[in-house]
Amino acid sequence: MALWGARFSGGPADAVFALSRSAHFDWRLAPYDIRSSLAHLSVLESSKLVTKNDAAAIRGALKELAAQVSTGTFVAESSDEDVHSALERGLTAKLGPIGSALRAGRSRNDQVTTDLRLFAIDHMLEVAHLVTELNSSILKKAGEYINDSAPGFTHIQHAQPVSFGHELAKHAHAFARDLDRINDWFKRSSVSSLGAGALAGSSLPLDPAHTAKNLGFESSFANSIDAVSDRDYVAEALFICATIGLHLSRIGEEWVLWASTEFAWAKVADEYSTGSSIMPQKKNPDMAELARGKSGRLIGNLVSVMTMLKGLPFAYNRDLQEDKEPLFDSIDTLLLVLPAITGMVATTDFDRAKMALAAPTGFSLATEIADYLVRKNVPFSSAHESAGKCVALCEKTSRQLHELTDAEFLSIHPSLDGGVRAVLTVAGALNSRTTAGGTAPTLVGDQIKNALNENQAQRKKIADKQKAFSEMMGA
Ligand code: ARG
Repeated sequence: MALWGARFSGGPADAVFALSRSAHFDWRLAPYDIRSSLAHLSVLESSKLVTKNDAAAIRGALKELAAQVSTGTFVAESSDEDVHSALERGLTAKLGPIGSALRAGRSRNDQVTTDLRLFAIDHMLEVAHLVTELNSSILKKAGEYINDSAPGFTHIQHAQPVSFGHELAKHAHAFARDLDRINDWFKRSSVSSLGAGALAGSSLPLDPAHTAKNLGFESSFANSIDAVSDRDYVAEALFICATIGLHLSRIGEEWVLWASTEFAWAKVADEYSTGSSIMPQKKNPDMAELARGKSGRLIGNLVSVMTMLKGLPFAYNRDLQEDKEPLFDSIDTLLLVLPAITGMVATTDFDRAKMALAAPTGFSLATEIADYLVRKNVPFSSAHESAGKCVALCEKTSRQLHELTDAEFLSIHPSLDGGVRAVLTVAGALNSRTTAGGTAPTLVGDQIKNALNENQAQRKKIADKQKAFSEMMGA
C-alpha cells in the first residue's frame, strides 16, 4: 500500500519500487512498529485528535494485527514498500480510512528510528544475556584448572608458566568489558524520537515525553532534527557486536591451536566438532574457526554503517534505510555464535599432564633466575644478562636450567649460587606471582570468584531489563 502519491502523475517504475522496497528485511520491525503506534495513539487520544471511539477501534485493530503478525497470518505483500506501509494496509483493511489516523503528527522518519531503537534495545539485551552465559561457562571451566600449570606465551613462544585457570579466565574479563559497553550504550540509546515528525517537530499537541515513557525509553529527543538523523545507537551497537566478535575470534584461534595434533592440549567434545567428507579420521574444531571467521562480517557491518553515515546531510535521507540489514546481521550472527562457543568451552577437556610437562620447557623459568639475582640487589641489566647466559649454556649442552652445576652458576655471576634451584620450579614460579591479578593459584581462585559474582550481578541487571521490556511490549 502506498503512503504517498497524490502529487505524482504515475506510480514508480518497477526498478524504482524494487530499489526502494525494504519490506522484505524491515518486516521484523513489525512488533515494535505496532507497539510504538499504540503509544502514539494514546497521545492522539489524550489530546483529542482522535475520538475515544476511534481510538478504541484502532487499539483493538492494532492488537489484532500484532497477534496476526506473530502467528504469520498477516505478512508484508510484494506491493508493500516497507513495514510501515504494510501495517497501515492491514489497519485500513480492518477499519477503513480511520486506519490512517495514526499518520497525524508522525512521519516515517521519526517512526522508523523509534522502531529500530526498540529492536536494538530488545536484541542487545539478548546479546548481553548470552555473553553472561558464555562468561559463566568460561569461568566454570577456568575454575577446574586453577592448580594446573601450562606455558604462558608471548609471540606464541613459551614465556613464563601460568595457572591454566588464569589463562582461561582472561577471556571472561574481555567479555565483562563488553557487558559494560552494552550497559553504557543503553544510557545514550534509550531515547525516543517520536514527536520529531519529519524533522521539525509537530504543530499538533503531542507529548513526546509521555510517548517516551510509555515505550520504556529513558528520555525523549532534545532536538527534533537530530532525533530523525541520529544513528549513533546503530553504529555503537555494531561496534560492540564487532568487539564481542573480535573477542570470540581470539577464543576461536586459541581453541584451533590447542586442539591441533602438535599441541594436543584441548579435546573438543564430539558434539562441538565436525568431520571431513573425505578424511574419515578428521575431527575439526569448526565452531572455533567459525567464531574466528564471523568476526570479519561483524567488523564489516560496522564499517558499512559508518561509511553510510559519513558526510550524510541532516535530517532524514534515504541512505538511512541502509542502517537495518547490517544491524540485523550482526545481531543474528552473535545469536548463533555465542551459544555454540558457550557449549564448546563447557565441553572441552584439557590434558593437564601434557600442559604441566610443557610448562617449564622453552626455558620459561629464565625470568626466575633474573628475579633471584634482583632480590640479591644485582642490577636488572646484569641479572638479565646472567640469566641469558644460563640459557645459552643449557642450549649448548642440551640441559634444563636446574641441571646446571653450582660451579657453572657461580662462573656466570658471583651472586648466583645453587640456592637458585629452589625457584627453578613451575610451582615456585607460579606461587611467587602474587601481584594482584597475577597467576599465583591462590589469587586466581579469588579472581574467578569475583568475576563470577560480577557476572551474576550483570545477569540479574539484564534479566530485570528484559522483564521490563517484555512487559512494555505486552502493554
Ligand atoms: N523504509 C524507510 C527507512 O527504512 C522508512 C522511512 C522512509 N522515509 C522517507 N521519508 N522516505 O528508512
